[in-house]
Amino acid sequence: MTALPLRLGVNIDHVATVRNARGGPYPDPIRAAHLAVLAGADGITAHLREDRRHIRDEDMERLRRQLFVPLNMEMAATPEMVGLALAWRPHAACLVPEKREERTTEGGLDIVGAQAALRPAIAELSEAGIRVSLFVEPEVEIMDAACELHAPVVELHTGTYCEAVAEGDEDRIAFELQRLRRAAEHGARIGLEIHAGHGLSFDTVQAVAAIPQIAELNIGHFLIGEALFMGLDESVRAMRAAMDQGRAGIA
Ligand code: PXP
Repeated sequence: MTALPLRLGVNIDHVATVRNARGGPYPDPIRAAHLAVLAGADGITAHLREDRRHIRDEDMERLRRQLFVPLNMEMAATPEMVGLALAWRPHAACLVPEKREERTTEGGLDIVGAQAALRPAIAELSEAGIRVSLFVEPEVEIMDAACELHAPVVELHTGTYCEAVAEGDEDRIAFELQRLRRAAEHGARIGLEIHAGHGLSFDTVQAVAAIPQIAELNIGHFLIGEALFMGLDESVRAMRAAMDQGRAGIA
């Protein structure tokens, strides 16, 4: 198939993590968002966690007022978060599972188990014109379940693939890439828009970018970490270039 254009959403959560370590206003995640956009980000992603460990309500409000690119709000499907999203009206809302004790979003949504919360959240957000995506494991049956819930978009969790790359386990790498490819292909065939993210780095992004059905990658932790060494501008540009090479089959 002809590959879709591939968008980069930069996740600025961990600029807020560093800011919150000292309690003052620096570094400012909104300044990072502006810089990322100037460097080639197509959108900005921010996760408002229930415990506000990084992004805070006032960050979302400033992003909403100041950004000229799409804002993707990552959130749990709770009444509190749905209420905030309805007030702020970001371009997109990515529904993620959230556990207080986890360090990051460790797996995809349990679509079947969480149906009772997901169904009304998807309906309310969609009615307000917010494009809803579900953060899910890359499995064919989960694509069907997302479609059945009337979610227009899924974001495939790339964490397991990235772990396999870190371990250098070639069999697992091939297996995980195949899972991503199959899920993307099936999801697109049944009408879902396909995004992907979690744990992506310069080493892992190209193979994921090469999957032609994927329309958007959301990347944060590695980019913000790399910014310490090369600057945020350069880390976003280098990621953009790696994505474009992967998509063009140059990897
Ligand atoms: N996509 C989703 C749905 C996420 O929850 C996260 C992590 O907040 C990301 C993408 C970005 O992951 P990372 O920070 O590992 O690049």
